[in-house]
Amino acid sequence: MKLCRRASELAEYTGTVGFVPTMGALHEGHLSLVKACREACDTTVVSIFVNPTQFNDPKDLESYPRTEAADLELLEEAGVDFVFAPSVAEIYPEPDTRVFDFGGLDRVMEGEHRPGHFNGVGQVVSRLFEIVRPHRAFFGEKDFQQLAIIRHMVAQLGLPIEITGCPIVRDRDGLARSSRNALLLPEHRAAAPHIYEVLSEAARSLRGAVSVAEAKRRIAEQIDANPLLKTEYVEIATADTLQPATEWGDSSGDLRCFVAVQAGAVRLIDNVAI
Ligand code: PAF
Repeated sequence: MKLCRRASELAEYTGTVGFVPTMGALHEGHLSLVKACREACDTTVVSIFVNPTQFNDPKDLESYPRTEAADLELLEEAGVDFVFAPSVAEIYPEPDTRVFDFGGLDRVMEGEHRPGHFNGVGQVVSRLFEIVRPHRAFFGEKDFQQLAIIRHMVAQLGLPIEITGCPIVRDRDGLARSSRNALLLPEHRAAAPHIYEVLSEAARSLRGAVSVAEAKRRIAEQIDANPLLKTEYVEIATADTLQPATEWGDSSGDLRCFVAVQAGAVRLIDNVAI
């Protein structure tokens, strides 16, 4: 495995190049992306870069977990060919002032609650694509909205990159794997699986049984029944456009339920097909 700090060191690729962009603090979710990438591509490149432009809250950027030595060990074991772990100056030699138009995908849910977040994601991912020049790139469905936005951006910019979404990886108790889970206090970690319990029960029993608005209300009420959790939003939206649904429609799988929940100081997101 070759560790590159500079864009110019990323050369000598062979065959189909697959790319897994990350912000480090790696866990099973990332490793599932690496596995999918290795199975589909000849060369696997992983980036580790905590992108300042996608953090709308400076405290969140400061506290974001950074575990580079452990990350490199995991990636070596996972059979990665290249790790690109650049400095901020390498990615942004000058401030990035580009403003993206994501066709409304960024105006709901995370976009509404984290102003500027997706523009920062667009900046860094397009920059990383320019440097790494992959044929394929792999993203997790935990950040379902991010995945939709990246697909949109790739189509809009006409980039010859195939984007693959990979299923959410969960802990045994159902909590979606996230680098932020490491920041949870023990009592909030113990409370957090309740989010997925509520979402899975909702997916089983609410579709068609009550109105969409009532389903959202009940999901928020049930999550908030745990005093250590506070729902920021519950949305039921179409899986492709991400626009909020007002009715259930007739084909299952076309709608997803999305939540953001505050667990102490840590903000968690999750989503399920409903
Ligand atoms: O999902 C992430 O970890 C980040 O948003 C990404 C795609 C690596 C861009 O910084």
